Amino acid sequence: MLPVSVVIERLCATIEDYPSQGIVFKDLTPVFADGAALRQVVDSLLEPFAGKFDAVAGVEARGFLLAAAAAYATGTGVITVRKAGKLPRAVYSESYALEYGEATLELHQGDVPVGTRVLILDDVLATGGTLSAAAALLERTGAVVAGIGVVLEIGALPGRSALAGREVHSLLGV
Ligand code: PRP
Ligand code: MG
Repeated sequence: MLPVSVVIERLCATIEDYPSQGIVFKDLTPVFADGAALRQVVDSLLEPFAGKFDAVAGVEARGFLLAAAAAYATGTGVITVRKAGKLPRAVYSESYALEYGEATLELHQGDVPVGTRVLILDDVLATGGTLSAAAALLERTGAVVAGIGVVLEIGALPGRSALAGREVHSLLGV
């Protein structure tokens, strides 16, 4: 079996100037669409955190794919960290700047039992704004962030330092 980093590198599509001029977009949909690659990616994301979490959180939208697969594989539940305005009950909100634009993430209050160890998954770590906001939301509910796993880490952007002090594993740095 090829190393997971090689599998991702081969399947990942790179799109210049999307969604705006100067942005190099990394599209992982071909990785998700390949059954063997998806399984290897999810298994690899889980490996460093084996036995260290009670639930998996996914960040809307692309993180949902990974979190659901990881939760199913480990018999844990999925916590949904959503874009603003999607959740029907009382929420915590965190706003953050993306590499392009700004956004707000929300999490239902009281959905995560206090002390739950949560593994957060997402597809890409770029500026770290998304995952910092997700981690902050989980901590506001009383959860413990067990770690963060991403498929791709954009090395030229300060995602790692935005998440300083947290256990972060990426499968491929670009
Ligand atoms: C993308 C990507 C990560 C985030 C990384 O999500 O899926 O969640 O940006 O960027 P950051 O580290 O600079 O915060 P985005 O919100 O663009 O769209 P999605 O709903 O397709 O996941
Ligand atoms: Mg996203």
